[in-house]
Amino acid sequence: MKQAIIMDVDTGVDDALALFYLLASPEAEILAITCTAGNVPAHHVARNNLALLELCGASHIEVALGSEVPLLQPLETSEVTHGPQGMGYAELPEPTTPLSTRHATEVWADIARSRPGEVIGLVTGPLTNLALALRIEPDLPLLLKRLVIMGGSFNYIGNTTPTSEWNIAVDPDAAKIVFDAFSVLPPERRPIVCGLDITEQIDLLPEDVTRIAEIAESSPAELLLPEQPRGTRSTASNDIVRHLSDAVRFYVENQQVNGDGYSAHMHDPFAAALAIRPELAEYRSATVDVELAGSLTRGTTVADFRGHWGREHNVDIATATHPRVFLDEFVERVGRFAREIQGASV
Ligand code: BDR
Ligand code: CA
Repeated sequence: MKQAIIMDVDTGVDDALALFYLLASPEAEILAITCTAGNVPAHHVARNNLALLELCGASHIEVALGSEVPLLQPLETSEVTHGPQGMGYAELPEPTTPLSTRHATEVWADIARSRPGEVIGLVTGPLTNLALALRIEPDLPLLLKRLVIMGGSFNYIGNTTPTSEWNIAVDPDAAKIVFDAFSVLPPERRPIVCGLDITEQIDLLPEDVTRIAEIAESSPAELLLPEQPRGTRSTASNDIVRHLSDAVRFYVENQQVNGDGYSAHMHDPFAAALAIRPELAEYRSATVDVELAGSLTRGTTVADFRGHWGREHNVDIATATHPRVFLDEFVERVGRFAREIQGASV
């Protein structure tokens, strides 16, 4: 039996990699993708997802637009990290598949109600849509099988402010609503949270992209090299490889500028992996809350491991993994998928 998943994303280079990975994974069935504003505005996110699904021969998957803005604060976007449209240097053809006529929040509520206890919710963007969906279906925490979130930073430096992580910082009010609402669950159904402290240990390397291309039987050899001029474009014969490489190159170049090496943090792909293969990580439970009032720390996730607040633990934080196990699996799966899809289209 495949694991049914609803994804909420702000695609986004690493959100796109998460989508490739899940489409390539035999354990996963994506029921719908809902789009939130984050890395780029929500309508770009939606366009990217429709185009990616067409590229991957998966246009049957519903894509629904969600909130264009965070609950209370103005929208901040990050084209500097993800490129002008959110896909780095990749230029995907304009999609022809229409957006869903349903709003993202209806999609979450309808899917969860129709398959109680079966569907995993995966959020790799700000939590705006999920917070809004809780207004129309407060029982979402009970209806979902489990929630997996890429977000937060636990005793680790932030990537948006000194102490906050992007997905939480873009909409801290939504994040607090979600953490609070999902605090009602028994230990085995607590949300899984992947913060920067783990996702920044998982870096896709240039040689991984080369290997994906080899497995896909793409030509010529796909090389991402720091000495190449910035913005060098892929000429890969395989369409998925070419777009993946163009997207990753932008992200990698930005990461290098930030002093994090010529590689790509796999934030969202790793969260996606835990949605179907939770055994890939070790976890530590905690009570997580979101700082909303701090003049310096708004959007910071605070984890209480020792019970200082006297509140039940409400999440399982992924604390350890063997990065190469996941990365090799990612490379293998996505490479094979790229080969199969290209083969199916000729
Ligand atoms: C998160 O922020 C976004 O830029 C990425 O897509 C990821 O979801 C990492 O902090
Ligand atoms: Ca994301």
